[in-house]
Amino acid sequence: MVGIIRAKTAGFCFGVKKAVDKAFEMADPDKKVYTYGPVIHNAEVIKSLSEKGVRLIESEEELRSLTEGTVILRSHGVPKAIIDLLKDKGIDYVDVTCPFVKRIHDIVYLESEKKQIVIAGNPAHPEVEGIMGWCKTPADVISTEEEAQRYVPKDGRDVCLVAQTTFNYKKFEKIVEIFEKKSYYVSIVNTICNATANHQTEARSIAEGVDAMIVIGDKKSSNSRKLYEICSEVCPKTEFIQTVSELTLKQDGSIATVGITAGASTPNYIIEEVQNYVRREF
Ligand code: F3S
Repeated sequence: MVGIIRAKTAGFCFGVKKAVDKAFEMADPDKKVYTYGPVIHNAEVIKSLSEKGVRLIESEEELRSLTEGTVILRSHGVPKAIIDLLKDKGIDYVDVTCPFVKRIHDIVYLESEKKQIVIAGNPAHPEVEGIMGWCKTPADVISTEEEAQRYVPKDGRDVCLVAQTTFNYKKFEKIVEIFEKKSYYVSIVNTICNATANHQTEARSIAEGVDAMIVIGDKKSSNSRKLYEICSEVCPKTEFIQTVSELTLKQDGSIATVGITAGASTPNYIIEEVQNYVRREF
């Protein structure tokens, strides 16, 4: 029988669990409950919430046209302007922004007055969009070491460097090194969430020792994608799936151990399904 190593850190992190629990607690088909953007990046969870009557608002325009109801604000945070808009309209909201993301909002809100905020992250990710929306002056986003090398702050301003909570820790360290060598003044706040770093370290160490690795997560989840990147660097037979039905990995006699990990927005029951399948079929 194949050996299975399931990461202890697989699945919901503290912030996501809190947000999802709150959304399910508030779900009520008789009331108008909305989430602004998906409350977490997991299609299965969103589907199950929508079956319980929680509607998804996908754009600011849609939010503007709202006249009543309660809006749940996603775990990876929203720009300040969205909260101001809801307040102006007198619409109730429940902010389930993860406290670790909120901490970044607070830092950039304070520091952006005097310093140039640089965010190490993915500019297209809603968390980064949210962080940018708390800066009083426009922030810059960099995602690679090359961009860090080329970077010059506007008007010679001092720099405050923060990171998207799910940013790769090793990449951030390299960017920090580059920034430290630059002559302008830089303050660095490591805002990578421990859950992410622990998740990544454990995934790498499992992937190093197994014949095949399965990473479960929504394709839109940046932390899941990063786990996949990390695992495939050290384990060539790494697969990234959303649910068990997508698994193409087959037992060909060469697989004695399988590692399983899952992104921070993957519900437990999906991990269980994959684990049971591997136990049965390998
Ligand atoms: Fe929060 Fe960290 Fe999760 S920032 S949402 S506990 S990955």
